[in-house]
Amino acid sequence: MTSKTVTLTDNATGKVIELPVHEGSHGPDCIDIRSLYKELGYFTYDPGFMSTASCSSAVTFIDGSEGTLLYRGYPIEQLAAQSTYLEVCYLLLNGDLPSSDELHDFSRIIKEHSMMHEAVRGFYDGFRHDAHPMAIMVGVVGALSAFYHDATDVHNPEHRKISAHRLISKMPTIAAWSYKYANGQPFMYPQNRLSYTGNFLAMMFGVPTSTYEPDPTFVRALDLILILHADHEQNASTSTVRLSGSSEANPFAAISAGIASLWGPLHGGANEKVVMMLEDIVHSGKTVEEFVARAKDKDDPFRLMGFGHRVYKNYDPRAKIIREMTHKLLAEMGGGEHDPLFEVALKLEKIALEDEYFVERKLYPNVDFYSGIILRAMGIPLNMFTVIFALARTVGWISHWNEMMQDPESRIGRPRQLYTGSKTRDYIAIEDR
Ligand code: ACO
Repeated sequence: MTSKTVTLTDNATGKVIELPVHEGSHGPDCIDIRSLYKELGYFTYDPGFMSTASCSSAVTFIDGSEGTLLYRGYPIEQLAAQSTYLEVCYLLLNGDLPSSDELHDFSRIIKEHSMMHEAVRGFYDGFRHDAHPMAIMVGVVGALSAFYHDATDVHNPEHRKISAHRLISKMPTIAAWSYKYANGQPFMYPQNRLSYTGNFLAMMFGVPTSTYEPDPTFVRALDLILILHADHEQNASTSTVRLSGSSEANPFAAISAGIASLWGPLHGGANEKVVMMLEDIVHSGKTVEEFVARAKDKDDPFRLMGFGHRVYKNYDPRAKIIREMTHKLLAEMGGGEHDPLFEVALKLEKIALEDEYFVERKLYPNVDFYSGIILRAMGIPLNMFTVIFALARTVGWISHWNEMMQDPESRIGRPRQLYTGSKTRDYIAIEDR
């Protein structure tokens, strides 16, 4: 809080009010408009939250024009280079990096919770054989509320902690089983001898008839993807978790709502759409330039998937890190860089970065542009891309939910509207219409 204020004059009535301005530790100051309706009788109008902070938060900071992303103050570049996903989970949840004892304990707890109540298995059988794994995720994560009654008092910090651990821990199992179900393969149980990421790969690709040892290069690549997707401030899915949780709904239900929001192609579904678009380009026989022309044509709804971001109007820092990783991984895999899909991606990236339309609108490749390519190179099927995003983002969602539950200023989310429907009118009997 500061003593800074903004003075607002209502030109219609001449009434003048002073609104306090809150100063954050980084980023733009915020005008506190909570008294506006009471004082002047106005709502503010801001579809899509273009200029509205919906809450205060100490979890993650983004500076879209500088291309900065900080988790609890630590630059994403440093975490990507030096940390692990589980350490990042601890950081996001608790606010500080763990000591080695704290990390050891945290890793043990996360491993201990990775099995699911055996009855949860039965839920999978209720889905059609070709169900999208994200549909399964929404259903199964929501269903967990029916299993863990012992810790659903959202006002009890210990209960919130247990729910957080359960969600982070069980998410790889739920995700891998959604893949196994679609493939008609036996479900693989978690193995505590493996790392968090290695265990997920083992549950995805392992089969009971042989021993599966996760490839360390893939483990590191996937761990990096999880770190980069762990949190991203007040995006659509996180805001969904906050809004649904603000009614004091249980955390499993709130996270399930977040997964549903993430599924959309304008959000987490974009990495799947990126690969579909690249495949379309490769198989269409048309040039990359023709697709770029379509993306620029106002009469054509086609957009370049994996380009643009609501907040980053400079290069997405995650995209920079993952771009480097993509090149390295494909080179290590031998010949990967000559994959026609990757060649199209590089061409698209080059054209878009030089084209006036994209430069003017600051439309840079985003993290999804590369994560799609890297996941495909690792043999992860297309429909699991958004699932992996959801798995990574669970810690971000739960950190925000936990923060909201502790915030004395938080209230049930209840946006208002600019009503444009009919004025009051009288009901007309059906025979007179
Ligand atoms: N291809 C072509 N043109 C685009 C694209 C694109 N990918 N993205 C934005 N534009 C254009 C718009 O047509 C608009 O042009 P105009 O000013 O001439 O009307 C201008 O750029 C601004 O676009 P908006 O839609 O207003 O930007 P907004 O901030 O609302 O949308 C979004 C951001 C949804 C990410 C958008 O850029 C998009 O649809 N990108 C493709 C989908 C995608 O990659 N999503 C992943 C987001 S990152 C994540 O969730 C991790």
